[in-house]
Amino acid sequence: MVTEQKPLHKIFTAVPDRYDLINRVFTWGQDAKWRRKTAALCLETKPVKILDLCCGTGDLAIDLAKNAPATSSVTGLDYSPQMLEKAKAKAANAELTTPLNFIHGDVGDLPFTNEYFDCIGISFAFRNLTYKNPNTPRYLSEIVRVLKKGGRFVIVESSQPPNKLLRGLDHLYLRTFVRWMGTSLSKNKEAYDYLTASASKFYTAEELSELLVKAGFKTVTSNRLMFGATAIHVATK
Ligand SMILES: C[S@@+](CC[C@H](N)C(=O)[O-])C[C@H]1O[C@@H](n2cnc3c(N)ncnc32)[C@H](O)[C@@H]1O
Repeated sequence: MVTEQKPLHKIFTAVPDRYDLINRVFTWGQDAKWRRKTAALCLETKPVKILDLCCGTGDLAIDLAKNAPATSSVTGLDYSPQMLEKAKAKAANAELTTPLNFIHGDVGDLPFTNEYFDCIGISFAFRNLTYKNPNTPRYLSEIVRVLKKGGRFVIVESSQPPNKLLRGLDHLYLRTFVRWMGTSLSKNKEAYDYLTASASKFYTAEELSELLVKAGFKTVTSNRLMFGATAIHVATK
């Protein structure tokens, strides 16, 4: 895919040095715990080949490679070279039980054969692939293509609290504190305007489940966290 057809590419190549810190602050330190939970759900079925899609600075890939059986291998893929540099530096200092390699690539054109992975995990990037993104159908068909039949696609992502009052408070929190804090620490207003707008209008757990079933997954279960402001979805092909 040529660069002009890659929505958000500019935002993610202007990755701030404080990217991890910003995530930690606005999730009150919970994002690391949620990724560990996502990794545990990926590893439950003892996958051999594992993909961290849109790996960013590599935290989910590293959690996977620390806990996966020694016979498995983990790949992290992202289209931002700047994110991948940070991921590689972090992985070099981590104690891993399995091989971990990072690949520069686009979800719209995954460089793997059909049914290559036993499990695919994605942390805080499924919204980028599916919120008002013209390439969504292509992304979903690529994910389904490279996942084995019976394999899991595990997503941790922002969601919508079912309770209306809590949903309103969550949106207020996003529009005020998260936007202000993200913009001040990163100096990248566009990135945090996008984050707050997309997170407050993103799918409910039910809508996301419907999208995945339409894309070809057999079952989807959702586990709400933080009153439903975040959720982990496990889709099985
Ligand atoms: C919000 S960050 C999340 C990063 C990481 N997974 C985490 O948990 O912090 C979204 C990531 O998705 C990557 N990304 C977005 N669209 C992509 C695409 N079409 N192909 C590959 N990577 C993509 C961006 O470069 C960025 O690193």
